[in-house]
Formats: sequence, structure tokens, C-alpha cells
Amino acid sequence: MKLLVIGSGGREHALVWKLARSPRARQIWCAPGNAGMALEDCPGKVRVSCIPISAENLAELLAFALENRPDLIVVGPDNPLSLGIVDLFEKNGLRIWGPNQQAAQFESSKVFSQNFMERHGIPTARAGTFDDPRLALCFAQELGGRCAVKADGLAFGKGVLICHNLDEAHAAIDDILVRHSFGAAGTQIVIQELLDGPEISLHALCDGVTATLFPTAQDHKRALESDQGLNTGGMGTYSPTPFLSHAELEATGRRILDPWLKGCAAEGIVFKGILYPGVMLTATGPKVLEFNARFGDPETQVYLMRLENDLLDLLEASVAGTLAQHELHWSPQAAVCVVMASGGYPSHFTKGHVITGLDRAAALPNVKVFHAATASKNNTVMTNGGRVLGVTALGATLAEAQAAAYQAVDLIHFEGSHVRRDIAAKALPC
Ligand code: AMP
Ligand code: GLY
Repeated sequence: MKLLVIGSGGREHALVWKLARSPRARQIWCAPGNAGMALEDCPGKVRVSCIPISAENLAELLAFALENRPDLIVVGPDNPLSLGIVDLFEKNGLRIWGPNQQAAQFESSKVFSQNFMERHGIPTARAGTFDDPRLALCFAQELGGRCAVKADGLAFGKGVLICHNLDEAHAAIDDILVRHSFGAAGTQIVIQELLDGPEISLHALCDGVTATLFPTAQDHKRALESDQGLNTGGMGTYSPTPFLSHAELEATGRRILDPWLKGCAAEGIVFKGILYPGVMLTATGPKVLEFNARFGDPETQVYLMRLENDLLDLLEASVAGTLAQHELHWSPQAAVCVVMASGGYPSHFTKGHVITGLDRAAALPNVKVFHAATASKNNTVMTNGGRVLGVTALGATLAEAQAAAYQAVDLIHFEGSHVRRDIAAKALPC
């Protein structure tokens, strides 16, 4: 089969790496891809090729697909999904994996998601949705100022402002609804009560009828150790987490997914793709903070290292509506992904630094270095953005996977590189 994978990050490198291991993969294109994807081979040593079309350029992507006729198109990031790439490609007779524009609203509109959760009894934070700053402030007052103020639309992961008192809540509401700091993404806001507890990522592969739950993973969203510093796209992940037993995970998953599936059916939403709820395990039970409508990054890196199925089979079943015929198999090994970022990320950083040591790291057993923001120039791999690499390792235990990931990290160098040294530490005894 010929495949086209859309996106250029660590998530997409992991997808390409896993798809290239399918015996049925004959050729893979990535748009636009990165230096790491361009080094993967399909069976028969057919090299993956990167094509210079951005993930948001729907018109050029469509022209490429109509000319080259991939058998399946796999969409990684949220932006093209919210722009309606699935609807557009399907209208043109192409087979594409991911939620359509209506279903992608679970991520592209926090107001839609919050109202949906309330309509269908999905456990979430006490919340209100507003476009009037005065009403928003009244609600924040009711919560004693302790709240999360969230811009409705996609805001590059920066649209959530955590407030601990009324002054902060007032400033956050003004920032989004009055000063329009997030532009059109902030025409409306969701205000949630501030919850407390460990946060985990859930993923479920969906085919419109069935939702099949993955094991747990945990991301580390803050830039600095001990969860200090600014919010980032994610500085590292591990899977599984010790916070839920298998039975508790199943119960939590069903408590969220059963009403979600029923709600989708009742509202005529056909969701094919990954539903990724961000969940807080509070003293009064698990609560959904938000839904994403795609694979997490860097959750995908740890999940796909542990997944034993052929990913191509699963994505095809997700499109065809035949997921119920598949059982997911996961390696009992643990996986840890440590992100190597550019110094200064997520604020100011420089690009174009030479990366060395990649071959030595790749030679370690049970290690895979997924590229995120990398580019290749004259056969040299250079940094090309904030999150540069996702150094991922498997181990018999979480401690072994963590040690292997950091061993690989220590072999890789580029100017100003920044890593958190405490990925998975929360799950390990001190
Ligand atoms: P979101 O994009 O909605 O997941 O929010 C980004 C981050 O803000 C989450 O990963 C949480 O760490 C934090 N957060 C969001 N909502 C809440 C909430 N209601 N209570 C506490 N923290 C929250
Ligand atoms: N791991 C965070 C995200 O993918 O949104």
C-alpha cells in the first residue's frame, strides 16, 4: 500500500516508523516530514520520501494526493483536521484517516466539548461558557477566583490560563475576551473550577461506533523539572502510569467513553480517529479537562513503541468501521520518551544547530530516537524548532526504560539543548 502521512513532528515520525514496519507498506510519503522520517525504510528497503507541502496547505496536499493516489492518508496534527481535510479528501474519493470537521470540534472548540460533556453526563469540572466578560467574572467570583480560563479555539497550546485568585481570573478574562490576545480563538471562553490531582492522558481509537482504549500515559507539560516553568507542547512521556490499575483504567475509560459514544450517536457525530481525553484523577473521581481529536505528542512515541499490532490494520479498521474485530496488544515493557528541546523553548530559541551523536544513540538496544523539529542540510541533521527530538526507550521496568532513554540522551549533542531530567520520576520510588 502507498501511504501519505501529514505532519512534521515527533508524533508523525513515530507514526511513519510504525507504519513502515507493516509488511503491507510499499511506499510512504510525508508532508512535510522531517530529517528523521526521511531515513525510514518500508519493507524492501523503499525509502520514505518527504514532500515540501505544509500540513495546512490543503489545496496542494489534495493535488498531490490526486496525482499520486495513496491508498491511505494519515493525518497527525489538529490544524488540518479542524480545517476539514478529511471532508475535503473524502469528497474527492480519497481514503483518509482522522475525524471529519464536525467530529474534530471536540478539540477545535472547548465550548462545544464542555457543553457536550454536560449534555451527556461525562465527568468533568464544574464550568461555564461565556462571551460576555461581566458574566464570566461573576462565575469566576462564584469559584473564588480559583479557575482555569480557556480560549474556545486552537491556540497553539497556550490558550489555558490557570488562576488562583480573582485578580488573576479578571486579568485572564480581559486578556482573552477584551484584549483578544488569542484573536478569533478567544471569541468565547470556558471557565472551569480548578481541579487537583495527577493528570493522565487517555487515548481511544475510534471507528464511529467502537472506542478501543489504550493503556495510560503521562505527559510532562511544563518546561522545567518538578513541573515548574512555562507550559510546553510536552517535554516527555511514559507508559504505563502507576496511577490506575488495569481494572480502574477500564472503569474510567467506560465512564468517559460510553456516554461519549452514546452522545455522538444521538447527535449524528461519526468520530473516526483518536479521541485523547486529558483527565485529572481528583479525590472525587476522574474528570475530563479537555478532549483532543488526534494522537498526543509525545504520547504517540511511547504508545507506538509498546503497540504490538500492525498499525496499518488498525487505522484501516478505524476508517472502515470494523474496529470491533481487532484486539489491541501491548508490550508488557514500559516506555519512556525524553524530549530534547532547543534552549529557551517555549519562548525564544535559535535554530540551525548541528546535532551529533544520533548514530551512537540509535545503536543502543531498545532505543528509538524520534525526530521532531529537525532538518537535513548536506547530510547533516540540524535543529529546526522548539522540540527537536523524542528519545524513546523500552525497558522491562519503568526504571530501566528511563535509564536507557537518558543514556541515549547523553550521547546526543546540539548547542543549547534542554532536557528535563525527571521524566517518569513521579512514577518511581524516590
Ligand atoms: P487543557 O489544554 O485544557 O488540557 O489545559 C492545559 C493544562 O492546564 C492541563 O494539562 C492542566 O494541567 C491544566 N488545567 C486545565 N484545566 C484545568 C482545571 N480545570 N483544573 C486544573 N488544571 C487544569
Ligand atoms: N501531549 C500534549 C498534546 O499532544 O497535546
